[in-house]
Amino acid sequence: MTGSTTQGTAPDAAEIDWETLRAAALDAMGKAYVPYSKFPVGVAALVTDGRMISGCNVENASYGLTLCAECALVSSLHMTGGGQLVAFTCVDGHGNALMPCGRCRQLLFEHSAPGMLLQTVSGIKTIDEVLPDAFGPRTLVAFAEGAE
Ligand code: THU
Repeated sequence: MTGSTTQGTAPDAAEIDWETLRAAALDAMGKAYVPYSKFPVGVAALVTDGRMISGCNVENASYGLTLCAECALVSSLHMTGGGQLVAFTCVDGHGNALMPCGRCRQLLFEHSAPGMLLQTVSGIKTIDEVLPDAFGPRTLVAFAEGAE
């Protein structure tokens, strides 16, 4: 898939152009700023309107302030028009698939389209498979409604 995805419809893995997505992630990985870990990460995603976004990790001398590649991706999502993430891939410095860290799965979940797909070390998975029973925006809404 290179074009549009109907909002609210779970994407079909066979329609995603994973190679193009991976190429964008590899390109982003090449721009990573990783003087401390020397572990570059690149990510890329397709958005509900069909555009493609990407990001790399940016480290800091104060190690804990490091920005994972997914942080850049989410910022880019909003900077370039918003929407929700339909398909996502993450690569390491060897170009191998990399699992997003736990914190970044939560970041991705917040901005995921229903049924968002991820290219993982064990094949294509949905966001619900990589972050089961997630805490998220709907949790807060349900609580607020229950409090009435
Ligand atoms: N990293 C990411 O960018 N995303 C992840 O999901 C996992 C970890 C980065 C953070 C740090 O710059 C380097 O990988 C080593 O932990």
